[in-house]
Amino acid sequence: MNPKGVFPSTRMRRMRRDDFSRRLMRENVLTPADFIYPVFVLEGKKKVEKVASMPGVERMTLDRLLPVAEKALKLGIPALALFPVIDAAKKSEGAEEAWNPKGLVPTVVAKLKREFPELGLITDVALDPYTCHGQDGLIDPRDPTGYVLNDETLAALEKQALCHARAGADVVAPSDMMDGRIGRIRTALDGEKLIHTRILAYSAKYASSFYGPFRDAVGSAGNLGKGNKYTYQMDPANTDEALREVALDIDEGADMIMVKPGMPYLDIVRRVKDEFGVPTYAYQVSGEYAMLKAAAANGWLSHDACMLEALLCFKRAGADGILTYFAIEAAEALRDE
Ligand code: PBG
Repeated sequence: MNPKGVFPSTRMRRMRRDDFSRRLMRENVLTPADFIYPVFVLEGKKKVEKVASMPGVERMTLDRLLPVAEKALKLGIPALALFPVIDAAKKSEGAEEAWNPKGLVPTVVAKLKREFPELGLITDVALDPYTCHGQDGLIDPRDPTGYVLNDETLAALEKQALCHARAGADVVAPSDMMDGRIGRIRTALDGEKLIHTRILAYSAKYASSFYGPFRDAVGSAGNLGKGNKYTYQMDPANTDEALREVALDIDEGADMIMVKPGMPYLDIVRRVKDEFGVPTYAYQVSGEYAMLKAAAANGWLSHDACMLEALLCFKRAGADGILTYFAIEAAEALRDE
């Protein structure tokens, strides 16, 4: 009836023929509950500024952020990630503004928690918005190489994380890549009975050139100048090292693990998820966002289709959620689908 090779013995296209069977066999779905929305906050009132290299992204003061937070909540986005833009006058060698209880981040956290208690708030723990040199940690001013000091930085990060948690941050997210910071922060939180504060560890954070637009957005690019972060962020060539970083952070008390950047690092997401089975997230960083926006603006790529495909691929790679500047647009596109 079917002499060998005349008819395909298995027809993979059968299940793809109709929408109903395509939907029935779909392994991964994207929902607004997968998104964390990063926002850039300015000091002061009634200010909104565009970020040239990130079309659609704006820095804004707290009063302008409130309706954005409400919109995110209504769209079903579980959490915001806050990134402060600190006035140059408040930056210092010692980054003291990072743990000022009346500073920008604790003020914004307290207000947002009061207005929208159900919206999760994630704060970035790293010193780069607060240092005059734009590094994530402290340096010895007498050291011409500008080497970032590990253990001195830990003491600062501990104060910063406590300051955020006391203000009501639900999740503190160390993105600094110092050794031992998760353990230090967990011990400090426990010491104040802040046992519900989650730690989202940027465990596998690479020294990536895709962060350029973000550094423009928070205004640390100028401070960093020709400096780089190679002595603490990971080498893009490495995989095993990422697994060691993740193992250490889990052991030290991390609740959630971040891989960053996202799309060029989906192999890392997959390995982390397979190896540890912990809540795993990926950060679709500013450069990834900028690339897609630029191509779409030129008519080279279809905006919504590529946005949703890119985000779905994070899920397929094993991510439980995605930190993405597309969160609002993607949630709207999913709602309207
Ligand atoms: C620094 C920080 C960076 C990003 C988030 N937190 C940049 C860096 O390491 O220099 C980049 C995010 C992005 O590119 O979207 N703590």
